[in-house]
Amino acid sequence: MQKLIIKGRRELSGKISISGSKNATLPILAASILSNQVKIKNVPLVKDIFTMVELLNFIGLKAKIIKKKNTIEIKNREKNINTLAPYKLVKTMRAGVLVLGSLLTKYRKAKVSLPGGCAIGTRPVDLHLFALKKLGAKIKIKDGYILAQAKNGLKGAVIKFPSISVGATENALLAAFKAKGKTILKNCAIEPEIKDLIKFLKNLGANIFLKGRTISISESKIKTTKITHHVIFDRIELGTYMIASALLAKKNLTIDKIDPKIIKSELNILKKIGVQIEQKKNSIIIKRAKKLKKINILTKPYPGFPTDLQAQLMVILTQAKGISRIKENIFENRFMHVPELKRMGAQIQIKDKTAIIKGPTKLTGAEVMATDLRASVSLVLAGLIAENRTIINRIYHLDRGYEFLERKLKKCKAIIKRV
Ligand code: UD1
Repeated sequence: MQKLIIKGRRELSGKISISGSKNATLPILAASILSNQVKIKNVPLVKDIFTMVELLNFIGLKAKIIKKKNTIEIKNREKNINTLAPYKLVKTMRAGVLVLGSLLTKYRKAKVSLPGGCAIGTRPVDLHLFALKKLGAKIKIKDGYILAQAKNGLKGAVIKFPSISVGATENALLAAFKAKGKTILKNCAIEPEIKDLIKFLKNLGANIFLKGRTISISESKIKTTKITHHVIFDRIELGTYMIASALLAKKNLTIDKIDPKIIKSELNILKKIGVQIEQKKNSIIIKRAKKLKKINILTKPYPGFPTDLQAQLMVILTQAKGISRIKENIFENRFMHVPELKRMGAQIQIKDKTAIIKGPTKLTGAEVMATDLRASVSLVLAGLIAENRTIINRIYHLDRGYEFLERKLKKCKAIIKRV
């Protein structure tokens, strides 16, 4: 099994370019089932994307990754279509469940494996099924699979989500595309990745309108001509490197291929704790922070502070003076990085949903274990600032979502290697 070895306390200098967003690419790939021909650019070359492409090919589409161009080309010749998403593919990547909405729209039936729980929480799909049922789908659960059918097609409806879910909003959007009449989705997730999906669907012919947390969709016709989409940048990767830069930049570090307008809450939080950030149109410059201040925050759906940056923020707060608190509001078990950070010297206590972080503390290298995608990268950040050597085990989690992590860090003079 591969490990990462990091020699800490190296100053970083240079520039980091941010990749395309994994969480935007995945639903767009699921949406491409609706089309005949698409080209998706700025795709990150990470494991979850490869798995989704495998799933599309399993379904019968012809999906090809052109690695040199970070592009995926997909054709649907409508031959030998399998409306099935098998367990072996969905279990490693929950977003596989998003093909449900597209398959129902296009083929009026689908059999999709239940994704099951994962390390950070139980992560049910009841909200996805709630929306699909409201649109008229008949749904049964059998042998670990969701069996969905809409013999006469789906019908528009007014649906208010009882709580906000990114995946359920995406699945509902995909299912509502051709639903008869009009669909109004209320209390939706409005993450930038959802807006990117809406952009893709509009390009594909959808009549979609977003206002606040309400999305209206009128019955739409799918374009048969080829469409091209450029995926939005990965705001979580950006947040991760902003934190690395604030902690370790020799003087400052430039991060480009981004849009600072999209990450207002992240910028506000970092500024509040004392990070100096210069914003440009498509880049930002982060200065090494001299004094970091404590903060109390809670994770929330967008535009709030993202749960996907909670573990990374915790690392920078170990270096802030005073007692900081982070309340994890989205997932019930997302503090698995805490015992590992404590082994490196961090002083963190968990009380219910809140992590209490005392700083500043000197971190020292240790052998640690990655438990999920974002927890893994928080250990990389901790390793970069720790004294001596840190060894991170189970880094396959990192490969699910961070494109060229070592290459990007090495280019900025970090000492990090994979063995
Ligand atoms: C997406 C992101 C993930 C991020 C999360 C929250 C992708 C591929 N993944 O995951 O990186 O951490 O949003 O920003 O985009 N829930 C239910 N029932 C459901 C669906 C969700 O109770 O049917 C709960 C979840 O358990 C969780 C909360 O709702 O507590 C939010 O989950 P959701 O927004 O659906 O996350 P994902 O779409 O799975």
